[in-house]
Amino acid sequence: MCGIVGYVGPQQAQDVVIEGLRRLEYRGYDSAGVALVVAAETGGSVVTAKKAGKLANLEKVLADDPLPASTTGIGHTRWATHGPPTDVNAHPHHGNAHRVALVHNGIIENFADLRARLEADDHVLVSETDSEVVAHLVELQVQSGESLTVAMQRVCQRLEGAFTLVAIDAEDPDRVVAARRNSPLVVGVGEGEYFLGSDVAAFISHTREAIELGQDQVITISRTGVDITDFHGHPAEGRRFHVDWDLSAAEKDGHDWFMRKEIFEQPRAVADSLLGRRTRDGLLQLDEMRLSDEEIRDVSKMIIIACGTSFFAGMVAKYAIEHWTRIPVEVELASEFRYRDPILDHSTLVVAISQSGETADTLQAIRHARTQRSKVLAICNTNGSTIPRESDAVIYTHAGPEIGVASTKGFLTQLIACYLLALYVAQVKGTRFDDEINEVMAQLEAMPDHIESVLGDCEQVYELAREHLDTRSVLFLGRHAGFPVALEGALKLKELAYLHAEGFAAGELKHGPIALIEEGLPVLCIVPPRGRDQLHEKMISGIQEVRARGARTICLAEAGDTRIEPYADVLIRLPKVPTLLQPLVAIVPLQLFACELASALGHDVDQPRNLAKSVTVE
Ligand code: AGP
Ligand code: GLU
Repeated sequence: MCGIVGYVGPQQAQDVVIEGLRRLEYRGYDSAGVALVVAAETGGSVVTAKKAGKLANLEKVLADDPLPASTTGIGHTRWATHGPPTDVNAHPHHGNAHRVALVHNGIIENFADLRARLEADDHVLVSETDSEVVAHLVELQVQSGESLTVAMQRVCQRLEGAFTLVAIDAEDPDRVVAARRNSPLVVGVGEGEYFLGSDVAAFISHTREAIELGQDQVITISRTGVDITDFHGHPAEGRRFHVDWDLSAAEKDGHDWFMRKEIFEQPRAVADSLLGRRTRDGLLQLDEMRLSDEEIRDVSKMIIIACGTSFFAGMVAKYAIEHWTRIPVEVELASEFRYRDPILDHSTLVVAISQSGETADTLQAIRHARTQRSKVLAICNTNGSTIPRESDAVIYTHAGPEIGVASTKGFLTQLIACYLLALYVAQVKGTRFDDEINEVMAQLEAMPDHIESVLGDCEQVYELAREHLDTRSVLFLGRHAGFPVALEGALKLKELAYLHAEGFAAGELKHGPIALIEEGLPVLCIVPPRGRDQLHEKMISGIQEVRARGARTICLAEAGDTRIEPYADVLIRLPKVPTLLQPLVAIVPLQLFACELASALGHDVDQPRNLAKSVTVE
């Protein structure tokens, strides 16, 4: 939610900042803005350009009316929380004297109180945002003679809520000062230049050396270095890391959308996710896992917490973990978790799944779990993000950057990490024999080829999608591990095509939702493999029930399944894989369907309306 960029160095700051914003635009696209410090012999000034709407609108403003040259700057793409997406509410914001410019990601919870006090002191606040008060407060501090760094420290002590702040001061042209609490920020380390970004994509074309920051820190960058303190000015430290992907991963690579590129990257992403997970003698090893075998043996219950697509990955994980380890698993929406007073103790392992590692609902849930003495294991794709840092253990998914707002390769690699976790726990607890674990690993290692073959049949799915341009409602049916696939397929369609789309457990249909079925309604059915015949038969009964009432059934079924043929108006073939692993191939046509339909409807697939990639507010 919101992309933030800061830069000091020898290059033109406007170019670096705009390029950074372009790479972060997936995080929010309600408005964009940039501010630069222009040094002059008579004293410096801050110049700003900002515009509602996508970054392209700001770029047009800058093309018509360029800002002066400068080597120090900040920028912002907004996902509005306080006030509509207008030019005035766009960031950067200023104090009354226009000396300080500041951008903000997050929510300042006590802004109303702070605003009232400023207004009582004759400050004129022009926007409806919570952020503007911070610009005024920081400016007041520098006007009283404090450095921008100390000003930021003092102001942060007065703020409640979640924030990343980045500011510049007209009278201090060589530095940019930032602060963070519960919102993302990383530092990029170049040669004689430093960068700030909500994530490393902001500066990946300039450097792959980065610093991960802790909570409640103030960061000052200049040409000569980076200085980190806490909010009280005490020295603090960040952790240096090398980004293991490069610029090409953050580009579209000839595809029309990042989402489509990421769908087609899935065979490689899944292969990378499986890489290096076994020792020479075939035993599973999870490098980043920081839980001892003894701690794993003590686990008597697991609770998986996540949001959106990651939640559906958690639902699939439940089937695998319970089956292979015999440990009971609950799956819970992160936003609901701490409000129901969950039963947690030291033998409960909480598994938090998050592609971004920054989702506020998930972060608050893991904090709650840790106060109850439960161990937390994160399944995450983003190195340097908050959720893995605040967890006891982590399995990274290694999908590479996911930029399309709708998660695709993030989901598939989360599934891989969940299967690996389940097998690892089974190995440590001895609930599966080594040869059984090896067999599943071999099946997983065959998955990239299976996914590739599904992608090879994309034309059939694209054609199908283009036949549905006038459709206003689509239902998805699944059973067992196919049920979360149905939910995820429906979510993709809601997010991208803005359609009414719902996923149901096939057996539940007759308890109410079947009333929705009418002549011609498309129903996408995820048919389980033949291996579990009872499951397969029950699914066919569900399909028959909707067909009898006029639905048009589009069935995803494994190669060689002839039993399904009489019940499918359209048949999409999937490779033959075990039931528990079928989500890895079954979701792919549904991703392609949503991407193509949204594209044909003329929607922005990478930046769907009202959404943001990482949701850093509760
Ligand atoms: C997926 O397509 C969504 N845009 C969204 O549901 C997402 O999965 C959810 O917000 C969780 O994000 P996370 O995995 O980064 O925590
Ligand atoms: N709360 C601020 C606003 O509404 C910042 C939102 C963001 O993170 O983009 O402007």
